[in-house]
Amino acid sequence: MAPSKAYIQSNMPTGTKDEEAIPMWIADMDYLCAEPIRSAVEKMARHGVYGYSRETGSYTQAICRWFLERHNWKIEPDSLVKTQGIIPALNTTVQAFTQPGEKVLLNGPVYYPFYSAVRFQHAKVVSNTLQIRNGRYQFDFNDLEQKLADPKLKVALLCNPHNPGGMVWSADDLSRYASLCLKHNVILVSDEVHGDLTYKNHQYTPLLTLDPAFAENAIICTSPSKAFNMAGLQCSNIVIPNSAIRNIFFQRTLANGMTGLNPFALAATEAAYNYSGDWLDQCVAYLESNLEYALGYFENHIPQITAMRPEATYLLWLDCSALKMSSDELHKLFNTHAKVYLDDGIVFGEEGKTFVRMNFACTRKTLEVALDRIKQSVSALVT
Ligand SMILES: Cc1ncc(COP(=O)(O)O)c(C=O)c1O
Repeated sequence: MAPSKAYIQSNMPTGTKDEEAIPMWIADMDYLCAEPIRSAVEKMARHGVYGYSRETGSYTQAICRWFLERHNWKIEPDSLVKTQGIIPALNTTVQAFTQPGEKVLLNGPVYYPFYSAVRFQHAKVVSNTLQIRNGRYQFDFNDLEQKLADPKLKVALLCNPHNPGGMVWSADDLSRYASLCLKHNVILVSDEVHGDLTYKNHQYTPLLTLDPAFAENAIICTSPSKAFNMAGLQCSNIVIPNSAIRNIFFQRTLANGMTGLNPFALAATEAAYNYSGDWLDQCVAYLESNLEYALGYFENHIPQITAMRPEATYLLWLDCSALKMSSDELHKLFNTHAKVYLDDGIVFGEEGKTFVRMNFACTRKTLEVALDRIKQSVSALVT
């Protein structure tokens, strides 16, 4: 994959000036976008008029065709609502369907904007904490059912595939989860933005392919942003089959002034879904080879850190509990000493406090340098 150097250099945590440091934190890739996406954006740039834009039917068609052909998921065009990203959709959902003081369920550790979506609304976070069994996260369904039964609990936020662990939830797990939400009349938001980055031997199952009944209370978040590395264009497509739920959601987007997508996002989305599937396949294969390299490296050279094997996406969840360090100490070890910028696990919830998250969507060379630096820093601790 071709690295975008200018981008890499600009992609440091705000205020960081250290040119030596390697950014492996925020979830986007160091790779240039697929050629059809770049061409579509360049064409739009040359067009020179960047006024308010409305999508044409071809935008919706591109989305529906992609999910049908890749994932056997038939999306009804009318069920789509566009938002300027998935975070706005998560925030909108919590605003629209909870009152301050009511409860929202999530599965900690999880992508940190899930927490902030709840807290901005002064609602309460309830964690159905994930359990590590056989080296991967699993749901505790007894605890889930108890928590969903609370009448104050209105919304569940599910991350499939999971960020930060990279689990691709099985059809059975998803069915059990969604059935419980349905039984207890809880709106289920399934954030499926990482689905297109699933590795071979694993199967991403869109929730709505499982049982037509799940359409009744589901909000599914999709976007080409992660798979095609275009998050900065800020565009997502939210599937809400139930028209009553969709209308409430849509009214809230209007109330927040969230209307319309920018013309670059519209053009890039079409180019991604219509013409960039081969690029994506190559990208996932490259990521998978990076993943195997990193897993092997931790096992053989940094055994003090245990990497959870992700089944999708380019995030490695690293268990550092054997180092017996606080979250602040881990931060210093990686970010200050090794000069490899990782996400602190604590931001994904209390459950993550002995972890850090590494983004390995970089060139192999960068990955090698980063892992070597981490090895040196960890060895320096021991001696
Ligand atoms: C699970 C998940 N949802 C949503 C997002 C961000 O979505 P957006 O940039 O469209 O707001 C991310 C980004 O890392 C993510 O990992």
